[in-house]
Amino acid sequence: MNAIKPLSQKEFLKIRDLLVSVCGIELKPDQDYLVETRLTELAIEIGAADFSEFHRAIIAEPELLPRVVDLMTTNETLWFRDDSCWNTLREVLLPKFFKQLEAGQPKIRVWSAASSTGQEGYSLAMLIQEECEKLAVPSLAERFEILGTDISTAAIFLGRAARYDSFTISRGLSQERRDRFFESQGGTFQLKQSIRDRVEFKHFNLMDNFSPLGIFDLVFCRNVAIYFAKDFKEQLFEKIAKQLCPGGIMLLGATESLFSLNAPFANRSHGNGLYYEVIKKG
Ligand SMILES: C[S@@+](CC[C@H](N)C(=O)[O-])C[C@H]1O[C@@H](n2cnc3c(N)ncnc32)[C@H](O)[C@@H]1O
Repeated sequence: MNAIKPLSQKEFLKIRDLLVSVCGIELKPDQDYLVETRLTELAIEIGAADFSEFHRAIIAEPELLPRVVDLMTTNETLWFRDDSCWNTLREVLLPKFFKQLEAGQPKIRVWSAASSTGQEGYSLAMLIQEECEKLAVPSLAERFEILGTDISTAAIFLGRAARYDSFTISRGLSQERRDRFFESQGGTFQLKQSIRDRVEFKHFNLMDNFSPLGIFDLVFCRNVAIYFAKDFKEQLFEKIAKQLCPGGIMLLGATESLFSLNAPFANRSHGNGLYYEVIKKG
């Protein structure tokens, strides 16, 4: 097997700066091991003798960049991640949205802003289906439009495919929901078309302009801002606030908060869950 020279501090800083500028991900000073463990194979594959050569290649060959981004993003996710978030959705947010629909709003638009391999958007689609059936109005579910976006091309591909292996399917999903919403296919689990159809996936970088995505009632921005620098986090929350309608809601991961950030949201709580209501000026 070919080898590559160990990553120097100078090379680490170059790659770290590149990642910040391309996708906002800011590696910590002691995360040089992440660059080495995740990028060495690709660097060897393209024949780079060291990481300086690899860095030059990424800049010179634009098709390498998505592969680097795929390798450097952490796509960890699971079904119904963080109970408190899903309790808040079931007990507070979905009832609010159902009322809005009953009052004549044509649809509710939801954005899973770092959708990874799809579990967040699909968990929501399943929950909406269950809650609409409890209300005995299953057709209400069709009036929710869910968009999942991610910078990782591989994650978007897997999200669209909606086929999961037995380990992935077991993470957070009850047996009951698995039996109801998935078809077992030779050791893998294919999400049924009726739920797949509820979520659209797009490749999208959170550094880009959000206006083309339109206005949302609810934005999931969970477990992604943790990778960003403070400035970029504030810009991100400011941009999300602009895309939310008055009264619109943002959800963060259970370990995240807006504490010490300048962000136009009011904290709301339900049980031990927090959610954030946009503050619109004027
Ligand atoms: C840890 S996962 C979170 C998935 C899901 N939201 C959850 O909470 O389970 C973080 C995701 O953010 C995505 N990501 C990182 N930087 C991004 C950027 N600049 N634009 C869009 N997505 C990004 C990664 O590709 C990854 O799939």
